[in-house]
Amino acid sequence: MKFLHLSDTHLRQDYASDWFTHRIFTDYDNPTIRFRHLLASINPVDYDFAIVTGDLCHEGEASDYGLFRSLWQEHLGDLPYFFCRGNHDPGAAFAEGMQVEMNLEGSYIACHEFKGLRIIILDSYQEGDHEGAISEAQFQQLKTWLSKPAEKGSILIQHHPLAWEEPDICTRVPQGFAELIASSDIRAIFVGHVHTASVVTYQGINQYMSEAISFGVDEYDHESIFTNRTGYNSVTLTSDQIFYYRHYLTPHQSMIARMAKPFDNSIF
Ligand SMILES: [Fe+2]
Repeated sequence: MKFLHLSDTHLRQDYASDWFTHRIFTDYDNPTIRFRHLLASINPVDYDFAIVTGDLCHEGEASDYGLFRSLWQEHLGDLPYFFCRGNHDPGAAFAEGMQVEMNLEGSYIACHEFKGLRIIILDSYQEGDHEGAISEAQFQQLKTWLSKPAEKGSILIQHHPLAWEEPDICTRVPQGFAELIASSDIRAIFVGHVHTASVVTYQGINQYMSEAISFGVDEYDHESIFTNRTGYNSVTLTSDQIFYYRHYLTPHQSMIARMAKPFDNSIF
């Protein structure tokens, strides 16, 4: 089974009307254009499905989410995709634009079965907070979903990382959450949020963080650097292994050499 892991697309129809995006993007270089380029480069027959780990739009309207769906349909047709909500995805616009139902506490959570694989979506969004949390109600629902193992195991997707070196960036979780994950059939955790690629263990399970499609962020002690680094991942899931491949879309990346096979020591 093969799937794509995309994250932090930050789409908007208009980047000039938002204070942040107005500063760093232009009409001819912005996340929507990068997303179009990515989608155009993907052959949907190569994948069974895709996951998108949040910040689908940047403080968008329902119509911005409509743009996400229409671009997907235009380039990838009916390739299924499963997505979660990020900290830049306001609830009402997200629900209306992505055509999903929020639960009673205003979260979007879901559990899908795809060819024997269980795909669990949690909502780590917190109103007015850049970092994430999982509610007690989500924890209780997760317990129910995980009470029986799935044929091919489970994957968990959410926007904020469960594990990160800076404790403030770790998702706040209810007591017992970590133990539940550790004892479950969850095989991998997929996240976004930090706009940098990493693999970190959480309760012994790999947490894969994707580069963003929109822009990269390099964190230093005293500042955040925004870059044009963009990328995504492809994943191959077998019965007992996970292969995770990074792909970069950085506009100014260039090739410096080529070596033909079989190798004969000639570089050109
Ligand atoms: Fe983001």
